[in-house]
Amino acid sequence: MIKQTLFGTMENGKAITQYTLSNSRGVSLDILNLGGVIRRWLVPTSKETTTDIVLGYDTLEDYLHDDSSFGALVGRYANRIAKGQFTLEGVDYQTDINLGGHCLHGGSQGFSKQIWASSVLSDSENPSILLELRSEDGDQGFPGDIQVKVIYTLTEHNRLKIEYFASSSQSTIFNPTNHSYFNLNGHNKGTIKEHKIQILASQYTPIDNEGVPTGEIAVVDNTPFDFRPLTNIAQPLSTTNEQIQFGNGLDHNLCLDYYSPESKVATYAAQAQTENGCVTLKVYTNMPGMQIFTANHLNNKKGKDGALYQARHGVCFETQFYADSPNKPAFPSTTLKAGEEFYSVTEYEVLF
Ligand code: BGC
Repeated sequence: MIKQTLFGTMENGKAITQYTLSNSRGVSLDILNLGGVIRRWLVPTSKETTTDIVLGYDTLEDYLHDDSSFGALVGRYANRIAKGQFTLEGVDYQTDINLGGHCLHGGSQGFSKQIWASSVLSDSENPSILLELRSEDGDQGFPGDIQVKVIYTLTEHNRLKIEYFASSSQSTIFNPTNHSYFNLNGHNKGTIKEHKIQILASQYTPIDNEGVPTGEIAVVDNTPFDFRPLTNIAQPLSTTNEQIQFGNGLDHNLCLDYYSPESKVATYAAQAQTENGCVTLKVYTNMPGMQIFTANHLNNKKGKDGALYQARHGVCFETQFYADSPNKPAFPSTTLKAGEEFYSVTEYEVLF
């Protein structure tokens, strides 16, 4: 089922719609056409209780001023491009700079700040909405006029399927993701340090002290980044490892073992679960990397329902290409050529 409500009105009079997608198992999600934001994700954790497992805000104003990309679709390029510079087919590009001299999540007016055209695709068993955005050649400094589509589908098996489609008028780079911050105990329940996580990745991309990958692809063996066995998040966070210091916690790309460049199918990549194992989130994707981020910068941020969010109150599993790939020839290519159709899929499944 899908319910539409008015979430707020922009200064220019444009309406921001909230779509509530719900299934017969009692799971429901609130999604905005502003930034494609997942604002609320309710899971019936007992007969009497529903738990909201994502961080978010109460008002439109909060989303317009947000600098953490809470729940948003980010792009054109998720995560960092060093100095906002890259060269594609012999042409140098300079993008918008919005994080300490680098480009983060596609620039200050990236996808998360845009109002997407929105429509209901299916209001039946597996409710589904379509979000569409045109980003013109030169938008935030990126080449190519691109048409982007994202489909959100909530299945009867409690999976949220996110599909990304794009095409461009000329060669460009493209790397979208969703930036949800999960707290499986509830968005207002404090730290996620006791969550256990697993990520099927034998390698990761070390960063410099500005969070930009050095270009090395390193093995995770004997580092705090070996999440192949189920690992308590507190473990890596408590080490004095230089990488953890550089990221102020976990803010790193893991190279997913089961990535296969031609695959259009979401394969199991990661999971998180509460300390008592009552709620589990499983992540499936066809993307090559996963940025794990432990909300390192949150500091007294006013969230939904009077919550006050602090560092480590959420954890993101951002499925994407590796950060700064356009400047790192050894990383999987993010080039999207004219005439090609970009497709990627990520599914988040909640078990409770
Ligand atoms: C980045 C962080 C950044 C956060 C919020 C993450 O994807 O890796 O460095 O602070 O997003 O935008």
